[in-house]
Amino acid sequence: MADSKQIVLSVKGLKTQFKTQNGPVTAVDGISFEIAQGKTLGLVGESGCGKSVTGLSLMRLIQHPGFISQGEVYLDGEDLLKLSDKQMRDRRGGKIAMIFQDPMTSLDPLYPVKDPLQETLKLHRQMSASETRPEIVRLMQQVAITDSEKRMNNYPHQFSGGMRQRILIATALAGNPRLLIADEPTTALDVTVQAQILALMRKVQRDTGTALLLITHNLGVVAENCNDVAVMYAGNIVESAPVGQLFEKPLHPYTQGLLKAMPGEAVAPRQPLSTIPGSVPGLSELPSGCRFRNRCSLATEICANQTPQLKTYYNEHLAACHHIQIES
Ligand SMILES: Nc1ncnc2c1ncn2[C@@H]1O[C@H](COP(=O)(O)OP(=O)(O)O)[C@@H](O)[C@H]1O
Ligand SMILES: [Mg+2]
Repeated sequence: MADSKQIVLSVKGLKTQFKTQNGPVTAVDGISFEIAQGKTLGLVGESGCGKSVTGLSLMRLIQHPGFISQGEVYLDGEDLLKLSDKQMRDRRGGKIAMIFQDPMTSLDPLYPVKDPLQETLKLHRQMSASETRPEIVRLMQQVAITDSEKRMNNYPHQFSGGMRQRILIATALAGNPRLLIADEPTTALDVTVQAQILALMRKVQRDTGTALLLITHNLGVVAENCNDVAVMYAGNIVESAPVGQLFEKPLHPYTQGLLKAMPGEAVAPRQPLSTIPGSVPGLSELPSGCRFRNRCSLATEICANQTPQLKTYYNEHLAACHHIQIES
């Protein structure tokens, strides 16, 4: 039978590099993943793993000395990497939109918050200035900003951090995106506001059917908000699975380490919270073979000599490690 889920984003072998004096270094090394309509993929990993570079690559916002050297990024079947700069500008803020961690730097302090909303509606939905007003009200209501008739004329500094992030979400949604990329969208906010914003994003996503790439270093955020998860380490996806499966049966030692380091209910009571020793290697000092091996208690000779490839272990559950034991 034909698969009923509609794939919105399909990334194949994406590779993003930075030029340095000693030649190019690779921040994202040939990663592949898909997101279906209305679904959320969590992209998780410690700081420096390549999550933001991935998001920016999908938007084609990687600046010099960075460049995308290989791969395909299909949005509704159209390879974004083949578009002209002008065509890509039309897609950005329209079919594909991104929100970032810090809502202050993404909003211009000199303009009332309705301005970017209005711009998006004119540019991507061909609305006239008079048509935009009721739609701005609707969008602000969708992200639970009350009194939006009045609030739309306020400036960014007149809003709290959580409110500013809501405005950015509304602005991102204004173009009716097929794919929304959210890079640590709540990391700068306090915990209660975080939960509110994430709940809001889930609701909005239900209403609009947007596919969401949720970038976070927080596995708790993944557990509550994602359908699927891809774990990234040093530019590679080392494990990917439906969320329940990943938390129940993590296969990769890196994922297992991340889960053990996670505070809260995910770990058994009284088990001490552990952290993974060492840190993510810099791009110019990646070890041979498995990039995680210097931090891995299971590492043996083969890990230094052979790069582990992603293999399927269970239905839709992939991992790349030489030492995975499956009990049958
Ligand atoms: N503009 C840049 N120039 C050189 N290296 C960069 C640049 N931006 C990111 N990197 C490197 O790419 C790697 C991945 O970074 P990033 O995607 O920001 O990680 P994450 O978002 O997972 O914390 C890091 O090693 C980082 O140092
Ligand atoms: Mg980042």
